[in-house]
Amino acid sequence: MKNTVESFKQAKIKGEKLTMLTAYDYSTAKLMDKAGVNSILVGDSLAMVCLGHKNTLSVTMEEMIHHTRAVTRGVENALVVADMPFMSYHTSVYDAVKNAGRLVKEAQADAIKLEGGASVCEQVKAIVNAQIPVMGHLGLTPQSVNMFGGFKVQGRALETAKQIIEDAKRLEEAGVFSIVLEGIPAALGKIITENVSVPTIGIGAGKNCDGQVLVYQDMLGMFSDFTPKFVKRFANIGDIMTEGIKNYIKEVNEGTFPGKEHSFSIDEEIINKL
Ligand code: KIV
Repeated sequence: MKNTVESFKQAKIKGEKLTMLTAYDYSTAKLMDKAGVNSILVGDSLAMVCLGHKNTLSVTMEEMIHHTRAVTRGVENALVVADMPFMSYHTSVYDAVKNAGRLVKEAQADAIKLEGGASVCEQVKAIVNAQIPVMGHLGLTPQSVNMFGGFKVQGRALETAKQIIEDAKRLEEAGVFSIVLEGIPAALGKIITENVSVPTIGIGAGKNCDGQVLVYQDMLGMFSDFTPKFVKRFANIGDIMTEGIKNYIKEVNEGTFPGKEHSFSIDEEIINKL
């Protein structure tokens, strides 16, 4: 069954948890879709885990479109959400609608995600009016890394906690179908989840969110530059890849790969004439 903004809404009503993972390419998206994840996020974390940048700020619209297109080709049932990169929606409401439209029209995303609360509500309303579902993103929003002075947990002080709750309500009023809550205390994640009608998707926001999202390279042990506290390793694919690559190098060096079963044959007579 295709996951949609309507099935997200129903999941919250029925108290069913939602699962979301990031993906940036066709093969990975296909595996995740077949495994039954509800949603795939083509996150701007692409900048860090795929392109090797130190934060998410440098990823471009062209790169997001390129990777989203690859993901949507591999997906049948998951709801594909594409991130709006830094500066693709801050400059004007017009730019926001135009760039959101590109992610849907050129890359076939089902929905877009953008970061921020009250300050981006005009953009959210305009994108929703253009019939594009919007996912909000509050808390430790990585595009604000320079304002936060690093990747720091948000909402621990009374004023900032109140601000995040207010922002969640404003986003809901503006028409988002869901809100990602990142890097906030678990108790704050619970309060927000209980006070908005749209599903919250947590990443470092505790178990009471309506769903969870993780960056797949983090949860499968494929990205070792740093590991945030909220990441659980569900498998060690990085180790398995390293072992496979070492075995390949060894067999090529020893001359045991490729074997006969990996080689193509030709008539002996033809060879003799060469
Ligand atoms: O870009 C991303 O991967 C994200 C998730 C961390 C929610 O926004």
